[in-house]
Amino acid sequence: MACLEIAGGRPLYGELTVQGSKNAALPILAACILGDGPCRIENCPRIQDVEDTVSILKMLGCRVERTGQTVSVDASRMEKDSIDGPEAIRIRSSVLFLGALLGRMGKATLPHPGGCAIGSRPIDLHLKALQKLGVRFDMQENAHSDAHNLTAGVFHGKICARADHLHGGSVTLAMPSVGATENAILAAVCADGVTVIHRAAMEPEVEELCDFLRARGARISREEDRSIRIHGVKTLSPVRHRLRADRIVAGSYLLAAASCGGCVCIRNLPSGQLDALYAVLRGMGVVIDADGTVRADLPLKAAEEVVTAPYPGFPTDLQSPLMAALCTAGGESRIRETVFENRFLTAVQLRNMGARIEIKGETARIEGVARLHGAAVNAPDLRGGAALVQAALAAAGRTTIYGYEYIARGYEDICRDYRALGAEIHLMENNSSEG
Ligand code: UD1
Repeated sequence: MACLEIAGGRPLYGELTVQGSKNAALPILAACILGDGPCRIENCPRIQDVEDTVSILKMLGCRVERTGQTVSVDASRMEKDSIDGPEAIRIRSSVLFLGALLGRMGKATLPHPGGCAIGSRPIDLHLKALQKLGVRFDMQENAHSDAHNLTAGVFHGKICARADHLHGGSVTLAMPSVGATENAILAAVCADGVTVIHRAAMEPEVEELCDFLRARGARISREEDRSIRIHGVKTLSPVRHRLRADRIVAGSYLLAAASCGGCVCIRNLPSGQLDALYAVLRGMGVVIDADGTVRADLPLKAAEEVVTAPYPGFPTDLQSPLMAALCTAGGESRIRETVFENRFLTAVQLRNMGARIEIKGETARIEGVARLHGAAVNAPDLRGGAALVQAALAAAGRTTIYGYEYIARGYEDICRDYRALGAEIHLMENNSSEG
């Protein structure tokens, strides 16, 4: 097991170019199987979730090559319509191959992605959306033909999907699920006729998937009422796409600058994507320049109440990093998590570092302390792990963070990035330092 060793207590100063977006890379790589290739995805981060997606593409018979930060995917010789194995279970986004495989092959078999630390994460909205496009499901093993489980989305077996005639349809999502929106798009782009997805997710990564597909010849438009309209096309052409910067990685680095004090600028941040974070940071007394540079003097001010919400609301993925920053703000702050039901696991670890946090239902109450102290802590999940790194950078003394594997799912090289900002942080693998 690898862990991080961090000596905290220094402000962060410097500029960074952040890696390409994980949450855009995953659906776009799945979308490469629609039509023949090769598609070239540039600025593709070297993270575990991308490596697992590449393994799935190879399992399906795609030719995949990585040269530096570019991944080429050629699906011309793809013949399989079923995925299996540890990669498919490890990453929840393997569920995006459902829509992509249906669009390409008219059928798909894959394991149910299951729940994870942050919540039960059902896929009922994905299934209901695809049913509107003519897809039939047969849930095998544990709960075949159990209509209740299908509706509740709590099934944990194998999903077998088939569409004899994939056609357009009107889909209304009960909530703007990112994954369900992407799955419906992937199935609809080459379906027969027009699909409209009402209450679709508006996250920048959904827009980037649409941009990628439009460049390949898909006909997709965003309507004023948040819906997405798709006119099915016969084929998609190969294309070259450069992934935009990862707004969540960028946001966590900006929050680290707020926690530690200092000044950090992300050079390649697409404008407008972090406005909800900027509003909260400004309220905490952080100065933000027009180019997105953040400058923080400690102590920060508390935040009365921050509520996570679908885009353009405050991102749930930055909730743990924000909590880490508020641990040492002057006064009491509250965070309400409305997207996932179990996303306060980081609080337990932060308490080990001296934080005062009380959780009641979907609300965390954080009473600022003068300083956190180093401790041995466990990353509970990807974003929680990143939040602990941030807390450790600001804390007095040394912190060891176990569970680096979670962080590696989404951060290409968190040590490299923080060292560029002047931090002392080392990866220890098998009891030896990375050097
Ligand atoms: C994506 C992001 C993840 C982010 C999340 C919310 C990727 C790869 N992951 O995850 O980083 O935290 O959006 O911004 O892009 N839900 C249902 N039924 C469904 C689908 C979702 O009840 O069929 C619920 C979920 O349990 C959750 C909420 O809807 O409570 C939002 O989930 P969703 O937007 O689907 O998240 P993901 O696409 O899994």
